[in-house]
Amino acid sequence: MPPTTPNPTREARQWLDDHLPDQTGRTILITGANGGLGAATAAHLAHAGARVILACRRPDVGAQIARGIGAAAEVLPIDLADLHAVARSAEACGPVDAVVALAGVCYAPWGLTADGFEQHIGVNHLGHFAFVGRILDRIRDRVVVVTSRAHEFCGRPGFGSYVPEDPAWRARRYSAFDAYCQAKLANLLYVNEFQRRAGAAGSALKAVAAQPGWADTDAGMHSGRWLGDVFWRASCRLIRQPASIGALSITHAASSADVAPGGYYGPDRLLGMRGLPAPAKAAASASDPHLMTRTWTASEHHTGVRYAF
Ligand SMILES: NC(=O)c1ccc[n+]([C@@H]2O[C@H](COP(=O)([O-])OP(=O)(O)OC[C@H]3O[C@@H](n4cnc5c(N)ncnc54)[C@H](OP(=O)(O)O)[C@@H]3O)[C@@H](O)[C@H]2O)c1
Repeated sequence: MPPTTPNPTREARQWLDDHLPDQTGRTILITGANGGLGAATAAHLAHAGARVILACRRPDVGAQIARGIGAAAEVLPIDLADLHAVARSAEACGPVDAVVALAGVCYAPWGLTADGFEQHIGVNHLGHFAFVGRILDRIRDRVVVVTSRAHEFCGRPGFGSYVPEDPAWRARRYSAFDAYCQAKLANLLYVNEFQRRAGAAGSALKAVAAQPGWADTDAGMHSGRWLGDVFWRASCRLIRQPASIGALSITHAASSADVAPGGYYGPDRLLGMRGLPAPAKAAASASDPHLMTRTWTASEHHTGVRYAF
């Protein structure tokens, strides 16, 4: 069956009607928009009048989603697991008002990107760091980064700690869960350091983080273990939050004039697992100034991309 953009539920439609400002004249690029939360976010924003660029690893699938959205949607091929491909995509990208860094690898078995990074940190953080850094002078308004409450596990007893200088996990034993949590912590550290640097440089650019709660997508279907797949589908059924609702916090972060620079948004119910957009609270480690600086310095070093601020 060809992929389609999900029809918003009545609750999502109501929120969009009540809260989504007119996006006419804005261009918003969304990575990972060929399914799940990315396709839903793109559909919401296009519905409000935005031109949306679906930045996808599988442009053929992205094109089918774009056709479902209509003339406001176009596709930009991008493979965030390959820094040369990221550079080519950045070269092909025109001016945008916002970038939504949404594509992600979740709970996947051990694997390396083309540049030798463990794939969670390589795709979720370093690929986006490189892409945004390369098009920084073409972004007019904001960068939105999609993270997860999973970041809160980092450093807890029984869980690993994020080490920005070790993107290939040479000094640590691999765990898919730890790798995902750490990549999502890196997303928040990036937003906070981006905002600190932009502010210090007098730039009006905003960085904002959003987490979708628990949304019924294919995110948890890449573990390579049937038990993992069964757990994911069963929990999605239990929590019952479709992608169209999970995408609202991301849509809010990408569109509202009222979001705080460096802000963080997520669903308002069931411990941030489902519901409508509201300010969210990140773990203290996400705003640890030392870890923010280490993340930025290591990301510049590993990607070879230096930001203008
Ligand atoms: N669903 C949830 O409950 C949940 C909760 C918290 C956070 N999130 C976050 O939400 C984001 C979207 O996830 P989702 O739920 O929509 O899951 P999904 O359906 O698995 O979507 C992931 C997207 O990322 C893309 N992607 C993966 N590797 C890529 C690469 N190398 N280059 C470019 N794109 C790549 C995928 O493309 P392909 O289709 O080609 O694989 C897909 O479009 C992720 O960052 C995830 O961590 C999701």
